[in-house]
Amino acid sequence: MAVERLQKILSNAGVASRRSAEAMIVAGRVAVNGKTLDTLGARADPEKDEITVDGTPVLRERYRYVALHKPTGVLSSTSDDRGRPTVVSLVEIEGATLRPVGRLDLESEGLILLTNDGALTELLTHPRHEVQKEYLVAIDQPLGKKGRERLVRGVRHEGERLKADSVQLVSPVGSTGQPDARWLLITLHGGRKREIRRMLSVVGRRVVTLRRIRIGPLALGTLALGESRELTPEEVEALYDAAKRERKQLRGSMAEAPGMDFRYPHPIAIDGPAASGKSTLARALVERFGYVLLDTGLMYRAVALAALRAEAPANDAAACAELARSGLLRLAVEDREARVLLGEEDVTDQLRASEVEGAVSDYAAIAEVRRELVAQQRLFAAQQPSLLVGRDIGSVVLKDAPVKLYLQASEEVRAQRRGEQAAEWGSQQSASEAGRDISGRDTTDSTRAASPLVEPEGAIVIDTGELDADAMIARAIEAIEERTR
Ligand code: DC
Repeated sequence: MAVERLQKILSNAGVASRRSAEAMIVAGRVAVNGKTLDTLGARADPEKDEITVDGTPVLRERYRYVALHKPTGVLSSTSDDRGRPTVVSLVEIEGATLRPVGRLDLESEGLILLTNDGALTELLTHPRHEVQKEYLVAIDQPLGKKGRERLVRGVRHEGERLKADSVQLVSPVGSTGQPDARWLLITLHGGRKREIRRMLSVVGRRVVTLRRIRIGPLALGTLALGESRELTPEEVEALYDAAKRERKQLRGSMAEAPGMDFRYPHPIAIDGPAASGKSTLARALVERFGYVLLDTGLMYRAVALAALRAEAPANDAAACAELARSGLLRLAVEDREARVLLGEEDVTDQLRASEVEGAVSDYAAIAEVRRELVAQQRLFAAQQPSLLVGRDIGSVVLKDAPVKLYLQASEEVRAQRRGEQAAEWGSQQSASEAGRDISGRDTTDSTRAASPLVEPEGAIVIDTGELDADAMIARAIEAIEERTR
């Protein structure tokens, strides 16, 4: 077919009258092959070009959408050089080259989508737009309430944060009996590699069966193992809507933190030495009251990472301070936690790496770096009801915070905890190495000239070696509620 004006293509496709189509074009809502064309003279070839309005393709007939119930042992790829079966080999649709949307591990089964619609694939797989997915998971041993809550708070594995949106107990498949702590219904947004298997391994469980039963609005339903069916136009529409809604919500949460008419006292300051329990407490308070969390240690770590990359040694204070300036170092809130960016790159998940771990205290001791980061931290706390975690929050950054908490525990207790955490973060550190690390860090952090670690004036001191996690959290909740109007 010949090349035609965009407004004609849109009106022929029944998207809008020619008049409204012109308005859509001028408003920049129409793209051809991914490029926005906002002039009325623009043309396209409706047979070859992909024309979208607000990111949704206009000419749908050429696209096919298939839901497949993938069995285990089948690869989520288009082909395999070892001749193993792939999801594509299970779905033959004449005249269309389908590709799987995302991936489901070889050993996993359940719902997978296949399509030749690149726009939908892009929307559904882009990490920021991912729709919620639901999995039915059988594990080798029961998982108690605490373990399930840990998955929802998030765990670390090989430097990545893995987190479920919810974890519920269900009855075993085929039974109508009581829920069983070996059968979990897990929902999540993440698309990280083997995310469910990895997060369960952190809490010491092995996956026996893993079946995806929902992708956004699309449920596996009664589709039998190995069978597939084409989606209805309504189902396709619902997938587009869900992916776009997801994107909006995420953008919203980046831009709009909770308002300042928040009913609980803020900002909250939490300080303490390494592995004193600060992160556990902070996450529990975020969950309970809705604060936005800034772990200021991450900012010092990001400066260390930037300095290591730039080969700037810690005795070059001016160069290091330059790396700390806002502009390069940025904070973005996602899920009520600040993530740290260097330029456009989100480096949060790289900041527990051993090179950074080994260097950070030296960079954190540079007065010019601290001055710069303290200013950024105060600005953050002024913009949203925040909870800041660090070493100098109650003593320097937020001296007037209405609630200051100071956590302490013996070096021995903390060394043991750090050893356990190291395993969780995927490093091989032994307990004695962790102990040396902790004690070296304590010495640098509490003897440096610039804002050494001290117990802030007016702080509530909690000994987390004596109290268990629940008691520590209860004590902090009480302190915040006491000061709530
Ligand atoms: O809490 P953490 O282990 O992520 O902290 C990393 C380093 O940064 C640690 O050596 C202490 C330092 N730090 C600091 O000096 N001041 C803060 N407010 C937070 C961390």
